[in-house]
Amino acid sequence: MTKCIACIGAGYVGGPTMAMIAMKCPQYKVHVVDVNEARIAAWKTDDLPIYEPGLLEVVKAARDRNLFFSTDIDSAIREADIIFVSVNTPTKTFGDGAGRAADLQYWEKVARQIVRVATSPKIVVEKSTLPVKTAQTMEAILNAAGDRTSFEVISNPEFLAEGTAVQDLLHPDRVLIGSRETPAGLKARQEIVDIYANWVPAEKIVTSNVWSAELSKLVANAFLAQRISSINSISALCEKTEASVREVARAVGMDSRVGPRFLNASVGFGGSCFKKDILNLVYICESYGLHEVARYWEGVLAMNEYQESRFVKAMIRYMFNTIVDKRIALFGFAFKADTSDTRQSPAIFVARKLLDERAQVVVTDPRALDNARLDLGDAAAGVQFTDDPYQAARGAHAVAIMTEWELYRSLDWERIYASMEKPAFVFDGRNILDHQKLFGMGFSVFPIGSPPLKHF
Ligand SMILES: NC(=O)c1ccc[n+]([C@@H]2O[C@H](COP(=O)([O-])OP(=O)(O)OC[C@H]3O[C@@H](n4cnc5c(N)ncnc54)[C@H](O)[C@@H]3O)[C@@H](O)[C@H]2O)c1
Repeated sequence: MTKCIACIGAGYVGGPTMAMIAMKCPQYKVHVVDVNEARIAAWKTDDLPIYEPGLLEVVKAARDRNLFFSTDIDSAIREADIIFVSVNTPTKTFGDGAGRAADLQYWEKVARQIVRVATSPKIVVEKSTLPVKTAQTMEAILNAAGDRTSFEVISNPEFLAEGTAVQDLLHPDRVLIGSRETPAGLKARQEIVDIYANWVPAEKIVTSNVWSAELSKLVANAFLAQRISSINSISALCEKTEASVREVARAVGMDSRVGPRFLNASVGFGGSCFKKDILNLVYICESYGLHEVARYWEGVLAMNEYQESRFVKAMIRYMFNTIVDKRIALFGFAFKADTSDTRQSPAIFVARKLLDERAQVVVTDPRALDNARLDLGDAAAGVQFTDDPYQAARGAHAVAIMTEWELYRSLDWERIYASMEKPAFVFDGRNILDHQKLFGMGFSVFPIGSPPLKHF
């Protein structure tokens, strides 16, 4: 094998990206390492630690050939020519910048470990999403090693979306690689370009300076979240005016300057990235004294919180202002379809609010029940969990769609209706069901962004 790659952090990004590189580049040896022993053990089985359609096939194509998982981080660093760092960069929960800034402690620990262990030159690639200018800090730590070895820092942010990670990695809209524009920086940049060039067309591999690459990832997530908040704000207006947000989104999205994607109104966006990356953007803007810019992006988050709380308030109001002891089934807990990830899922907020109102909450999800239990923490003790939606709905006053799992469209809704308390409510937090059909069966239906269909 011509080169050795290490990836520190075997999570939703490190695992799939490295599996794809290993599958497409048999000439590279790829070592994925993590401090989390259970996670590494799961990557070695067919029961992977994350659910992602098509991922097992990619992993199996390369595992034990040129793709290896281990907890021996030092050996992986020592052996590697190129080190991708894909550790988590959550929002800081303490001290200065709490609730806004990125918590870079995991990132810095890795940088220090690399310095301590490395005995030969390395290219260190920022794969995690980081505040703009992090490469400078990284360089400062790495160069503190003196002349013992040399490091080049590259920014290669990841744009995959959970649920479609394999397709996104196979056919990326673009791969972004930022470096210092020095001879050494450009040489290192080319080495990373060479990896992706094994399967990504040249015109989709974009290079830039390192700061643009770091910032582009934050901005891409901010723009995506902004579209969701924009259409969600309009959904509230539609409910007041008898316009339909689906019809408005279709008409607006057909404008080629706007485009149709990311215009589905919903209970709100979730996932580990949008909120944290916008908070991070806001914090960075404020630290540069750009308060108006910070307020602008904060609005995207405020709208998302409004949408989540509006959804729960509507549930309570329509269910005759009390849900005490009423069984309510949440269909889906993952933050989106085709993933087991529940981080920042609107379902967490909704479940907690319903519990505060003393409802009996039942959660069903085809893939995310283990994570749902973890995310609900102490509250999980008061929640029932089942992977069978029919069982979840039995005896319930209401079903609330929290995740756009395809299977919910094709359920036997007549059977569900027959098994529920009456009046039977459906709150469609993802606007995926045929509302007229459900209404015809006897349900009272509450979509997002169009008038309710009520039998009372
Ligand atoms: N999840 C996504 O869809 C997505 C998409 C693009 C970018 N990102 C970014 O990628 C980064 C990673 O995200 P993720 O979702 O994969 O996170 P994750 O929490 O799933 O994985 C991070 C892994 O890093 C490991 N880790 C932490 N500190 C370590 C250390 N010192 N040594 C070794 N391993 C260590 C953790 O144990 C964990 O398994 C974040 O910055 C995120 O913003 C995520």
